[in-house]
Amino acid sequence: MKKVGILGLGKYIPEKILTNADLEKMVDTSDEWITTRTGIKERHIAAQNEATSDLAAKAAKEALKAASLKAAELDLIIVATVTPDMPFPSTATIVQAKLGAKNAFCFDISAACAGYIYGITIAQQFIARGTCKNALVIGAETLSRITDWQDRNTCVLFGDGAGAAVLGESKGQGILSAYLGSDGTKTALLHMPGGGSLNPATAQTVKDRLHYIKMEGSELFKIAVTSMADAALMALKSAGLKCADVNWIIPHQANLRIINAVAKRLGFVNAQVYLNIEKYGNMSSACVAIALCEAAEQGKIKKGDIVLLDAFGGGLVWGALIIKW
Ligand code: ACO
Repeated sequence: MKKVGILGLGKYIPEKILTNADLEKMVDTSDEWITTRTGIKERHIAAQNEATSDLAAKAAKEALKAASLKAAELDLIIVATVTPDMPFPSTATIVQAKLGAKNAFCFDISAACAGYIYGITIAQQFIARGTCKNALVIGAETLSRITDWQDRNTCVLFGDGAGAAVLGESKGQGILSAYLGSDGTKTALLHMPGGGSLNPATAQTVKDRLHYIKMEGSELFKIAVTSMADAALMALKSAGLKCADVNWIIPHQANLRIINAVAKRLGFVNAQVYLNIEKYGNMSSACVAIALCEAAEQGKIKKGDIVLLDAFGGGLVWGALIIKW
């Protein structure tokens, strides 16, 4: 088995910013409520002519540049998203065309906020076994397209963005372990009921607002804390490491209170938690991807550091990855 590492990272955040003050004019909410309950101050919204594949391709170009690779050198493209351009074809194939990555095979995965961690774990298997040399994994979302802008319970939470990683064989450093989990008995806590085979789009499904995110926030909150903490412990255990060995935690950025509760539960003493929730809100699969890219770009993560990626989302799904930088 080959050792697999990250060769390059990239990100793309749409230009338009929607602040808490803007939301105060749209629904019955306040900057004070959003800030204290979630830690979010603003989020970015894709332009009307930007689809998820556009955000993904821009992040991917940055990652390829950072890895000093050409698009034609990619063997595999995985896009993790709950907001694909359309049900089919996959957004990954659309990104392939936009990049000119003609030698890659491509597919999407649906693992909500844990999608980037699922995607990296899948790509790792192909590279470790020698099936692929270079893989591109992208977490990309335009959640603004499935956000109900009349529902204050959810519309204050989400934003748009994309983050990408090029993976390949590495010497010494790289992915040490991964842990993935799912619970399909709780799908109703977070889902978009309309638009699939169960409730195909009709005038009635539109009228019933079924094409928007539905979420039971407070129930999810508790499960998010335990699942993220458990996933971290499982991944650390299979890497033969302890919490005290971790230098950086790159958590899913759904809620600052969830992140703080996970860190407290694990009793991290040395680890630093990378946060950007204030600027972007919850971008589902793009959160960990963008946070990891930013932490690396800002020089926060140093060579030899142990980095923990940790996420939880609709499905329910959760996952953690341990990377030696
Ligand atoms: N502004 C003002 N008041 C609000 C707002 C708002 N935007 N939203 C809700 N409220 C009110 C509610 O109506 C409720 O009022 P009531 O007590 O009179 O009924 C009160 O605030 C408290 O509501 P809760 O839902 O209990 O608030 P909570 O503290 O749980 O925070 C939140 C809500 C932020 C959604 C939180 O529960 C959360 O972050 N949950 C986890 C989300 C998550 O992790 N999702 C999974 C990942 S996302 C993905 O996969 C795409």
